[in-house]
Amino acid sequence: MSRDELTKIMLPEEKIPKFWYNVQADMPTLPPPGLNPQTMQPLAPSDLEPIFAKELIMQEVSQERWIEIPSEVRDLYKQYRPSPLFRARQLEKALDVNSKIYYKYEGVSPVGSHKFNTALPQVFYNKIQGIKRIATETGAGQWGTALSLACKLFGLEAMVYMVKVSFYQKPYRRSIMEVYGAKCVPSPSNLTEAGRRVLEKNPDSNGTLAIAISEAVEDAIKRDDTNYSLGSVLNHVCLHQTVIGQEVKMQLEMVDDYPDVVIACCGGGSNFAGITFPFIPDKIAGKNIRLVAVEPAACPTLTRGVFAYDYGDVAGMTPASMMYTLGHDFMPSGIHAGGLRYHGDSSLVSQLYHDGLIEAVAVMQNPTFEAAMLFAQTESIVPAPESAHAIRVAVDEALQAKKEGVSRTIVFNLSGHGFLDLGSYDMYLSGKTEDVALSDTELQESLKSLPRV
Ligand SMILES: Cc1ncc(COP(=O)(O)O)c(C=O)c1O
Repeated sequence: MSRDELTKIMLPEEKIPKFWYNVQADMPTLPPPGLNPQTMQPLAPSDLEPIFAKELIMQEVSQERWIEIPSEVRDLYKQYRPSPLFRARQLEKALDVNSKIYYKYEGVSPVGSHKFNTALPQVFYNKIQGIKRIATETGAGQWGTALSLACKLFGLEAMVYMVKVSFYQKPYRRSIMEVYGAKCVPSPSNLTEAGRRVLEKNPDSNGTLAIAISEAVEDAIKRDDTNYSLGSVLNHVCLHQTVIGQEVKMQLEMVDDYPDVVIACCGGGSNFAGITFPFIPDKIAGKNIRLVAVEPAACPTLTRGVFAYDYGDVAGMTPASMMYTLGHDFMPSGIHAGGLRYHGDSSLVSQLYHDGLIEAVAVMQNPTFEAAMLFAQTESIVPAPESAHAIRVAVDEALQAKKEGVSRTIVFNLSGHGFLDLGSYDMYLSGKTEDVALSDTELQESLKSLPRV
């Protein structure tokens, strides 16, 4: 078969990357240091030791370009990596476009999303440090599931605080976490002071990732046997996800192609970082490539947030970092892409956006589900609502190229499948999904919570 005819571009197992790529080695401007939330002075790595494994803290601040993937992690990556890169032939046909559309499919991981790429190393580094239990938050449940399985595989306990709106929208997520032996509670919960404080003010709170993070951090601080783990945002999480983009580059080489545009949905930014960071050196070297982050109009961090120091959580227990933010007590509407309901963005992604190396676009919920439906009915995979944001923009890019009479190579990350998001599809199919955009008044109100630095 000629390379032009390939639909599924597969790499052999030995091509699983042996190193993660650290974009900090190549960024023209590094993000300013995080600040200790109590003193508002630059953070020392030791400030993070009460809740993070030492190796992860080293990775957080490292400027080494390549960081070796431990063999224990790489062995477990073998179960699902390298993940396939598909040429979306049926979608291209349905759209009647000349452009080539490719998607990297991270839904082949045992938990159904890219989150497992970082759950494995995070739990591994905690295990070798003697930690017995990990507390974490989860939005849509993808991260909680990944962490639960990684904990089970390495013999640790997992405690997951799941954003309440998603806990009820996606009940089977909790079931999977329990199958993997984890405990999962809706957040805000009354198990922590942070949760109780929110519930006192608003007993019907839908929860947010920022609240769930406060609960998990508090849990980890209070117990010596427990560390905290975050599924996105932090530098080491973005680092671990770069296996995605490294594989994409090799897979495109196999078919003699190179992207004009790479697209990924952006919650805290690690999924976007994973597929795009390995292309950043090319971009800096002058390659004509666009890297596009897609966010929901209901939570438009990069496109409408401010570039400022802010906390990662609602209670201000996490370090203040320089990021695009809507304010740490921002309450996004209960949209179905729960994993994209985060007020801020990774410092690395934020700095690259500030420096004009990446772009961002915000999309509404209904057009996103419309693109997800078209994708499912052509490419056969039911996408996670988060991933559908990237599909929407990939489709728009292909249609725009058609209008311009050109052909482009469009690559997007299909970060997860939506088999446990069918309640959201039901809502869409019965016309109950609302298009919500953030109002200026809400935004101004929420930005009042920014810390003074
Ligand atoms: C399927 C899926 N894609 C993307 C995201 C967003 O990920 P990130 O926070 O890495 O941007 C999530 C977050 O939960 C997700 O579940």
